[in-house]
Amino acid sequence: MSFPETRLRRLRQSAPVRALVRETSLEPRQLVLPMFVREGLSSPVAIGSMPGVVQHSIDSLKAAVADAAEAGVGGVMLFGVPAVRDARGSGADDPHGILNIATEAVVREAGDALVVQTDLCLDEFTDHGHCGVLAADGSVDNDATLERYTAMALAQARAGSHLLGLSGMMDGQVAAIRAALDGEGFTGTLLLAYAAKYASAFYGPFREAVDSQLQGDRRAYQLDAGNRREGVREALVDEAEGADIVMVKPAMAFLDVLREVRDAVRIPVWAYQVSGEYAMIEAAAANGWLDRRAAVMESLLSIRRAGADAVLTYWATEAAGWLRDGR
Ligand code: PBG
Repeated sequence: MSFPETRLRRLRQSAPVRALVRETSLEPRQLVLPMFVREGLSSPVAIGSMPGVVQHSIDSLKAAVADAAEAGVGGVMLFGVPAVRDARGSGADDPHGILNIATEAVVREAGDALVVQTDLCLDEFTDHGHCGVLAADGSVDNDATLERYTAMALAQARAGSHLLGLSGMMDGQVAAIRAALDGEGFTGTLLLAYAAKYASAFYGPFREAVDSQLQGDRRAYQLDAGNRREGVREALVDEAEGADIVMVKPAMAFLDVLREVRDAVRIPVWAYQVSGEYAMIEAAAANGWLDRRAAVMESLLSIRRAGADAVLTYWATEAAGWLRDGR
């Protein structure tokens, strides 16, 4: 039997050769840890649908952020869970609201070591659970919501947030928030636009994490899972409006969109490995159906390979520890 000249297995013959030719790397600095902080807690509360993830008290949040920084994680993304909600999401831009006081505390704790980021969306703060304020007919009012977002942006910037995560999927949100921040002198506050955020079943566990009040769905503002071109278009519009970074979310069910967005824009592209992606691997691993560490690392490497410059993942601190031990 004659073999072809091209023996592809030469590149796979040993661990050192494989390491030398691996195309994609994963480093702690490329990981961002999403975290939940709930008003009124004195100790952390477990989230049933996300084993290993908790709703933090301010104190436990600070400790966990210090651990993330110690592990070399690049940033933390904070989500607030308020005790009281209303139709306009008043807690979001209240300087004493849970997310804003937590941000101040975290910036003081670790603001020099990692990038402190805050979710900029109304859904955790509204009593109807939508990402914006409602018009008389019950639909989410885009332009009225932008006014709430700009107020929220200023509150977060004043609290010291380094980077605002615009996750609400309202049209014009990047331009409106950039203008509001610049008008108040916050020219250094970074904007991450959740450009291609799909209406996804994989957000299921997150809804428990933030005690979501949502009835119905977000299909009138988040993208349809069938649409790839529209995701790229969203990213191009957000780049043009002045986003510093764009995001694709969820990650694993949308790796094709991620690759195409990476090729289309010139700014950093991030991906959010969401709660359902986390829960699937945790549940399968708990059943002994997959090797947990290997599955987590493969999932993160795939998201990087598809084009993400950084990844939001609930495994950020643990994965950073593995990466450091592995060296
Ligand atoms: C909305 C928001 C959601 C997530 C992050 N920001 C949920 C939604 O759009 O319904 C989901 C994150 C996850 O599932 O891990 N502010």
